[in-house]
Amino acid sequence: KGDPRLQAISQAIRVVPHFPKQGIMFQDITTLLLDHKAFKDTVDIFVDRYRDMHISVVAGIEARGFMFGPSIALRIGAKFVPLRKPRKLPGEVISEKYALEYGTDCLELHVGAVQPGERAIVIDDLVATGGTLSAGVKLLERVGAEVVECACVIGVPEVKVMIYYLLAGAGLLESHF
Ligand code: PRP
Repeated sequence: KGDPRLQAISQAIRVVPHFPKQGIMFQDITTLLLDHKAFKDTVDIFVDRYRDMHISVVAGIEARGFMFGPSIALRIGAKFVPLRKPRKLPGEVISEKYALEYGTDCLELHVGAVQPGERAIVIDDLVATGGTLSAGVKLLERVGAEVVECACVIGVPEVKVMIYYLLAGAGLLESHF
């Protein structure tokens, strides 16, 4: 809020009505990635927030958390840890199921990627219900990490939890519930 970079970041995100299905206003961050200035500003804002918080783990959620997480991790001197959909990680994993609108999905974390006591942030492009981020937090906590915060580019003001987001997605809640 008040950051002059946010308007350009917001304008760089394409909103696609009725994708992937009727009633959903899809927030397409691929157009943000095409805009060098807006993409860099987005990463810079996260880097400024987290660089002095002694974060050693940036955990990114598949798939779009992978598009922001590594850039932030490199700049703040942290490792990047992918939290993946089932059966993608080849090593030993722990899994955490979470609820979707219809059915459930699951995230997995490689055992040994994060050590007990490490300070972590979880990053994704967007939070709607928070179910996906919550599963990510649980995975990290199960291996003894301390999750300092979750971070997203787009969030909803109605979700009052510890999520730092750059933009308030208008209409997101209506479209997801
Ligand atoms: C989207 C988005 C978040 C999640 C947010 O991912 O990128 O990960 O939904 O929803 P929630 O807060 O209600 O849990 P999607 O399920 O489309 O997966 P994908 O990125 O692999 O396509």
